[in-house]
Parts: sequence; C-alpha cells; structure tokens
Amino acid sequence: MLDRLQRPLRDLRLSVTDRCNFRCGYCMPKETFGRGYDFLPKDRILTFEELARISRIFITLGVEKIRLTGGEPTMRRDIERLIEQLAAIDGLHDLTLTTNGSLLVEKAAALRSAGLRRLTVSLDSICERTFAAMNDVNFPLRRVLAGIDAALAAGFSPIKLNMVVKRGVNDTEVAEMAQRFSGPDLIVRFIEYMDVGNSNGWRMADVVPSSEIIARIGAKMPLTPLPRNYPGETALRYRLAQGGEIGVIASVTQPFCGNCTRARLTADGTLFTCLFATRGTGFFDVLRAGASDDDLREKIGSVWKARDDRYSEIRSSKTERAPKVEMSRVGG
Ligand code: GTP
Ligand code: 5AD
Ligand code: SF4
Ligand code: SF4
Repeated sequence: MLDRLQRPLRDLRLSVTDRCNFRCGYCMPKETFGRGYDFLPKDRILTFEELARISRIFITLGVEKIRLTGGEPTMRRDIERLIEQLAAIDGLHDLTLTTNGSLLVEKAAALRSAGLRRLTVSLDSICERTFAAMNDVNFPLRRVLAGIDAALAAGFSPIKLNMVVKRGVNDTEVAEMAQRFSGPDLIVRFIEYMDVGNSNGWRMADVVPSSEIIARIGAKMPLTPLPRNYPGETALRYRLAQGGEIGVIASVTQPFCGNCTRARLTADGTLFTCLFATRGTGFFDVLRAGASDDDLREKIGSVWKARDDRYSEIRSSKTERAPKVEMSRVGG
C-alpha cells in the first residue's frame, strides 16, 4: 500500500500518553503546559486491548516496526502489559520505545522481560546544571545516567541516546557527548531542533545544522560516514576512530521526507501522517462504536493512500506559523 508519493507504510509510532514529568522547552514549555493545561481525560485514552488490536491491523497493512512514545511512555501505568501484547504479534519485526529515562531505574528490567527489544533514551546534556535547565523540572542528570546503566544491565544494547541540540544552550557539549558515550553499547544521535507544534518559540537561529555538529566533533576525532541501515532511516551515521558510532538527525537542513514511512497514532486514537500535521483522523469513536477489523483497515488505508505530507521539504516562514499538532500529543 503506497501513499501519493509512492511511500509504503512501515512504521507505527504509538503515543501512549500525552503527559510527561519533564517540561523540555523545545517540547512542553511551562508557559503552555502549566497547571491549567487540558491533558486527555482517562476515558478518552485507548486501552491496551484497543492499542494491540489496531496495531495488528496496521501490521496487516505493512507495518513492521512499532515505537512507543508519549509524552513519556513509561508514565502510562502498567506499560509492560501493553509491551507483552505487542511483542506477541506475528509479523512485527521491531518493537522499541523512546523515553526520557527518568523511570528506568525502576522499570528497565520489567520492560525488557515484557519483550521490549530496543530502547532510545533522550539525553540533552551531561552538565548537571544544563540538564536540569533543559528538563525545566530540576530533574537530576545522575538519575537518568543511573537509568541508562539499569537498562544496559537489563540487556538493552545498543541503546541510542538522543540529544536535541539548541544553539547557546547545549551545543558546546557535542564533542564531549560523542567522546564520552560512543562505544559498543551506546550510540549518540544529535537532533536538529525542530519547529514542531506552535508553543516552543522555534527560531532558525537556535538550530545548529548537522554539518556544524559533524565539523565540531570531527575537529576532535576522525569520523567516517556509514551507509544507512535501512531506507528512510532518520539518522546519518558516522563511525568514530575510537570505536562506536554517532548519528545526526538533520530534519531541518537535510530533510528525509522522500522515504518517510511513519504513521503516528495519539493516545486518544487520532492518526497523523506527519509530525508537523495540522489535522489527524480520529479512530476513537469508530473503535468504541464497534467497527470491524475490515472497517478499520479500510479507514486506515484510505488515510494512507491520500497522504502527500513532506513538511520538512517545504518548510518556509509560512508553514512555520501554520497550526501544528504538539510533539507531546503526537509522539516524537
Ligand atoms: P531508529 O528506530 O533507531 O532508527 O530510531 P528513529 O530515528 O526512527 O526514532 P527516534 O524516535 O529515536 O527518532 C529520533 C528523532 O528524530 C525523533 O525524536 C524526532 O525528533 C526525529 N524524527 C523521527 N521521525 C521523524 C520524522 O518522520 N520526521 C521528522 N521531521 N523527524 C523525525
Ligand atoms: N525538536 C527536535 N526534537 C524534539 N523532540 C521533542 N521536541 C523536539 C523538537 N522541537 C524529540 C526529542 C526527544 C523525543 C521524545 O522527541 O528527541 O528525545
Ligand atoms: Fe517530555 Fe520528551 Fe517532551 Fe521532554 S521531549 S517534555 S521528556 S515528552
Ligand atoms: Fe515524514 Fe513529515 Fe517528517 Fe517529512 S516532515 S519525514 S513527511 S513526518
């Protein structure tokens, strides 16, 4: 099944909650996501059974990989029960999760034994002060580092560490991050700060282009480009002379929409076909109204076949101001 730009549906990103215990300024700035913010009520959130059912249908339509996202997915109560259900589905080749790492000390082993195979942890800084400022809730860096150790001990390897690079905030740390973490067990990926949603006050001046990130790291240690692991991979990869690899995700300066095979489902069952979409298609009501698998398959298929998103390729001052879904709702 192909969309209007001949792209197949291969990846499903399931946001399991729109809540998070961090308030990263690039994602959930406090001014917007404060006390008065209307998070989804419990009765509008898909159950694990509904998520597993819809995942099975997506897999019949070509999905091979599922990533659990949020908000912060480990804050969804009993998330390991969902992982067990997803891990048991035939035809799913890759099951992974993106977390801020804050709860891994408690949860890493349970996630692993439930059947999670891969893990990505966000880590924006290795300076205590900068880390606390970036999560904006004073969450201690050492607790996330302990969480990464717990995940390694539970058998996750390699673990990818995602760092959103913001000019004047954490950009002086890129070489140190690469040097400190790269090795057989960890892969650091440097992400260009993106204009997702409408609340983060994004400005091009705050973006550090991947070419600059590579130059900064390359000045400290030799880098060799590596081929993509699979078509549509978000990251450009490099081998480090010291061993290990790093990646850059250059969604702003070198967009990769041409191979984008990702669909995103929010916790309340709204399907988005682009991270920067204005509108999605609701599945909550049809699910609860008793739609059959065939009904759902057809509805998903018609959304995918109509898809022509390529936001990052056509980004302009006009698109930047368009109303866009927030990252914490649609998942990263
Ligand atoms: P692997 O499965 O390990 O290849 O990871 P991944 O790169 O698919 O997933 P991950 O969630 O780690 O993605 C890293 C970051 O890349 C996300 O947090 C987003 O910021 C960005 N990203 C992922 N997918 C897309 C996409 O389709 N479009 C854009 N513009 N950015 C994306
Ligand atoms: N730009 C780039 N990446 C972002 N993320 C969230 N907001 C942004 C943004 N504005 C990514 C971070 C985090 C993941 C959950 O989403 O990489 O690791
Ligand atoms: Fe939470 Fe992740 Fe968004 Fe930070 S980037 S506020 S940790 S969902
Ligand atoms: Fe896919 Fe939209 Fe990202 Fe382009 S901008 S890669 S279409 S999610």
